[in-house]
Amino acid sequence: MVIATGGPTTRLSMSRPVKIAGLATYVPPRTLTNADLEKLVDTSDEWILQRTGIRERHIVDPGTATSDLAKEAAEGAIRQAGLTPGDIGFIVVGTTTPDTIFPSTACLLQDKIGANHAWGFDLGAACSGFLYALTTGMHMVASGAHEHALVVGADVMSSIIDYKDRTTCVLFGDGAGAVVLSAAAPGEPSIIGYEHQIDGAGGPALCMPGGGSRMPASHESVEQRMHYVKQDGQAVFKFAVRKSGEICRRLLDRHGVDPSKLDLFVSHQANRRIIEAAAERLGLPLERVVINLERYGNTTAATVPLALADAVRDGRLKQGNLVMLASVGAGFTAGAMLLRWSL
Ligand code: ACO
Repeated sequence: MVIATGGPTTRLSMSRPVKIAGLATYVPPRTLTNADLEKLVDTSDEWILQRTGIRERHIVDPGTATSDLAKEAAEGAIRQAGLTPGDIGFIVVGTTTPDTIFPSTACLLQDKIGANHAWGFDLGAACSGFLYALTTGMHMVASGAHEHALVVGADVMSSIIDYKDRTTCVLFGDGAGAVVLSAAAPGEPSIIGYEHQIDGAGGPALCMPGGGSRMPASHESVEQRMHYVKQDGQAVFKFAVRKSGEICRRLLDRHGVDPSKLDLFVSHQANRRIIEAAAERLGLPLERVVINLERYGNTTAATVPLALADAVRDGRLKQGNLVMLASVGAGFTAGAMLLRWSL
């Protein structure tokens, strides 16, 4: 097993600090409740709630794609930052469900919002997509390459979910979140550091076999339902619990931060039990943990911004707070980021 560990080898030393200057999210209006799923597969509200913590998810209407959700979130984030789309120099979209294999969703988004001075690309890191995109955008601004970067996490998971497979269809929802990153003034709250890892040996545990170069779409691949998410739930669960605690601890140690100093822990929202186990390993009381998957399910790259936005709305996240973000996803991918909240 080869594990590639990213992140700086010492404390992050950036040419200039970077802050989140705007945050917005969007979910489609239609909801799919546990009761709705009871009519599609052999499941129950009780099973889903007990095993995952999810009550409902938002699902797009046919014809709505990832860039449509991303547009709503991106425009909101740019507005909150007090900017116009023309001020954005760089766009990165974390997504597992791009509108098309090409052109990239970043290109489609750039056109939709009229970000006429930006370049950018999509980033594939599944549930860690937002954190990896945030890190990429941060370096673009920290290096001085760009004044403002637009970072998006957006997914229409309903487009790759098999609504005949009860082991996966109860877990996922659709949504988007976006932040604008800008240079922070000296002393302003900003991003402190990150830790990312991938472990490609975990690939088969969570994947979509069809549709890529290994298995292009064919009558057979469609008949065999290969264009849907396949998952070994228990393998993913075990990896997620172990890895989230481990990666968070490593990040905190590098920066000499005791977990008790964290004001808020904002993790990827896949399963309530995974989040609670990670918090327990860090010795964090649940009052300092954001759990909002009850209303959204696992929206893959959108979970972290959706959780941040809810925490701001509820008054749980305030300017200056010390926050740790974390995620684990298909790949396997894992990430954590430490920051002082700047909005
Ligand atoms: N309704 C009713 N019964 C179900 C359902 C369902 N929706 N799904 C599975 N079952 C059954 C199984 O068939 C099994 O029955 P059996 O004992 O007769 O064989 C039983 O429930 C227990 O199944 P398990 O898979 O052992 O249940 P578990 O407690 O592991 O929960 C779950 C399954 C929720 C998928 C869990 O493993 C999980 O959350 N894993 C993490 C996966 C994840 O979140 N992936 C998302 C992306 S990756 C990431 O973000 C980390």
